[in-house]
Amino acid sequence: MKIFDTHAHYDDDRFDEDREELLIKLKKNGVQHFVNVASSVESIDSTLKLVTEHPESYAALGIHPSDIKGINEKIMEYIKEKILSFDRCVAVGEIGLDYYWGEEAERADQKKWFIRQLELAREVKLPVIIHSRDAAEDTFNIMKDNHAEEIGGVVHCFSYSKEMAKEYVKMGFFIGIGGVVTFKNAKKVVEVVKEIPLESIVLETDCPYLTPSPYRGERNSSVYLPYVAEKIAEIKGISADEVYDVTYKNALKLYRLKEDA
Ligand code: NI
Repeated sequence: MKIFDTHAHYDDDRFDEDREELLIKLKKNGVQHFVNVASSVESIDSTLKLVTEHPESYAALGIHPSDIKGINEKIMEYIKEKILSFDRCVAVGEIGLDYYWGEEAERADQKKWFIRQLELAREVKLPVIIHSRDAAEDTFNIMKDNHAEEIGGVVHCFSYSKEMAKEYVKMGFFIGIGGVVTFKNAKKVVEVVKEIPLESIVLETDCPYLTPSPYRGERNSSVYLPYVAEKIAEIKGISADEVYDVTYKNALKLYRLKEDA
């Protein structure tokens, strides 16, 4: 069994006390690779440090919509420089819109930096990791208008309708499925998994957040991904092995990586 965690935040301070032991444990549990996703300027540096020290991991660099305060062109240049000078940077992210946390007055700024970072992805020729919460329509319209189908990527922690999921699949995007699918109130995500092909699904934790049940509320890590894979297998009426196998290949395809030897 091989697992690829397509979205993790192991630089988060909730991992400070046992990070190294935990990352060794991941390997023993079949987690071959993970992508550490930056969200703020500070986490760009901590992501690069962590990924440099862990050759099995990859980096995604970008500014999360909730962290865009104070962002400017200089910072965009800085990110671009880091991406181009680091060979294990595989995506621009996480970027997008978050109307759940964001104040209404901030929405115009969120849109501006979302569009700017789509452009950045185009410049550096990397896929994007999309974060979108309570902003289904604006996210989709911006991606359509900016021809995101030419950029490619993943809509992470997908929380919208099955119709919307199908639209993203049509654009060639992957759909990130994590712990939420195991929650009791996960009806919408379960429907999404049912409706879209397994070939469009990638596994993700978003750790330390969104721990699958029965560990909901605790600190998450890639060690819990089998709960997600087994739930997907149950929904689709296939074996967990098939879920591991296909989603692993999907992750390589998403981040344009070569198959492991
Ligand atoms: Ni995240």
